[in-house]
Amino acid sequence: MGNESRLADLDPKSITREKLVETEGIPLLESTVKNWDSLWGFKARPDDLLISTYPKAGTTWIQEIVDMIQHGGDRQKCARGPIYQRHPFIDLSPPNVPTGVEEAEAMPSPRTLKTHLPVQLLPPSFWEHNCKIIYVARNPKDNAVSYFHFCRMNQGMPEPGNWDQFLEDFLVGKITWGSWFDHVRGWWEAKKRHPILYLFFEDMKEDPAREIRKVAQFLGLQLSDVVLNRTVEHTKFETMKANAMVNYSTLPAFLMDQAVSPFMRKGTVGDWKEHFTVAQSERLDDIYIQKLQGSDLTFRTQLET
Ligand code: A3P
Repeated sequence: MGNESRLADLDPKSITREKLVETEGIPLLESTVKNWDSLWGFKARPDDLLISTYPKAGTTWIQEIVDMIQHGGDRQKCARGPIYQRHPFIDLSPPNVPTGVEEAEAMPSPRTLKTHLPVQLLPPSFWEHNCKIIYVARNPKDNAVSYFHFCRMNQGMPEPGNWDQFLEDFLVGKITWGSWFDHVRGWWEAKKRHPILYLFFEDMKEDPAREIRKVAQFLGLQLSDVVLNRTVEHTKFETMKANAMVNYSTLPAFLMDQAVSPFMRKGTVGDWKEHFTVAQSERLDDIYIQKLQGSDLTFRTQLET
């Protein structure tokens, strides 16, 4: 992934596709695991806001929405730096540059932080301080497709192989940050005992204003109609795709090669139909039923038109 905020210091030759190492049965980037003690001991502060997602569920989208609400819809303030500098990604700890934990420690409160950790691996201080958490989940089919293209373009992620190979790894959870099924379910269960706003990519796509209002209410922040409308406009896919502060174009191509696949790729619900065979779709459906059995968590793989 690369340490995103000190990229000027990075040597292109130091970027290699990482190996996966298991922690408590969850495959994580080797660099994350090397820094595990510091991550596990992370000192959350009571006024931290944590944005948690499975990779490619709409993290950057919710980050920009949150930043707009926190800054009263002031686009200039949201352009104070690339999104990865505004919200430290605590899981990251590539060599030779400050880790996400160090970046967070250096940041004054109130902080907004990002993680992809499954719920059982979240540093305990977030629970101890009862920090607010926003979780965004995306249906597994679109999530898998987006993750595949991201692993192709991000030169620090493990090699994804071809689509068929990647999907197999996705279905058995042998990819970075582990099983999608366990991730979304684990965080869904945690919502019952902790202040977690659990959002869905598909709902955000269907009615962004409705979901943005939920976020403001959860944060206890005022949201006038003017700010709401400006936030909707500013966080539209097309606007974000053209915004260098959120589209990761500030990262060098040796890290994220947007010629392979752009970070802001399609931003739709249902693109999975361009990738899955019928057999693959049915196989995922079977695993979905097994893994989410007994849960009231449901996903939409398409929106009504
Ligand atoms: P696709 O690859 O399907 O296009 P993350 O930020 O968690 O890495 O997720 C990236 C995914 O969210 C990409 O999906 C990206 O295009 C999509 N995305 C980012 N901003 C978006 C927006 N404003 N509206 C819709 N989708 C968005």
